[in-house]
Amino acid sequence: MRIDIITVLPQLLESFFAHSILKRAAAKGLIEVNTINLRDYSTDKHHQVDDYQYGGGAGMVMLIEPLDNCITALKQQRDYDEIIYLTPDGKQFDQPMANSLSLKKNIVLLCGHYKGIDQRVRDNFITKEVSIGDYVLSGGEIAAAVVTDAICRLVPGVMNDETSALSDSFQDKLLAPPVYSRPEDYKGWKVPPILLSGHTKKIDEWRMEQSLRKTLEQRPDLLEEG
Ligand code: 6GU
Repeated sequence: MRIDIITVLPQLLESFFAHSILKRAAAKGLIEVNTINLRDYSTDKHHQVDDYQYGGGAGMVMLIEPLDNCITALKQQRDYDEIIYLTPDGKQFDQPMANSLSLKKNIVLLCGHYKGIDQRVRDNFITKEVSIGDYVLSGGEIAAAVVTDAICRLVPGVMNDETSALSDSFQDKLLAPPVYSRPEDYKGWKVPPILLSGHTKKIDEWRMEQSLRKTLEQRPDLLEEG
């Protein structure tokens, strides 16, 4: 899988990808994540990529010309399954969306900044608009890092233990149960005895019960959705 990320802050993303699970996945040849500096596609002598909005109002808008140049250049190199704009007014990102994106071959992520991008880019190039939650970030880069991480760890071979991606919170609309490791007794804080019993079936039942309890307490909305 290949992910091309269009950004005005490539260094921010590069440092993230250089220190994450994605580094190993890239070394194994399973994924390729590239950052593209939008400024390189500005034909303007000051490499300007934003300007005031028509109609007035505070906030700059990312210009159509460098975005067209950049996206068109990418599309000439390969076919993209999705060209995704990261924006707080997009569809909320969730695990089913991560699952479906992890099956794609080539994806573009476009990081918004300022007031956003010229609407004509959205109308003519963007195939999907994605938000990571109901709050506003100063730019789409952190959202791109979130989406890239969530997608890439689902690509077969990226995780060490492939079964563990399947037991994550949200994969089955239940929060994950508590986990414990050594020692059995730490300063009097003990591991639940059932986990030390060796009864696989009882352990599975305990974990399911804990998952349900936790979901009811923290995220009852997940159980209501049907
Ligand atoms: Cl994708 N971008 C920005 N700027 N803010 C956000 C977001 C994206 N998702 C939630 N807040």
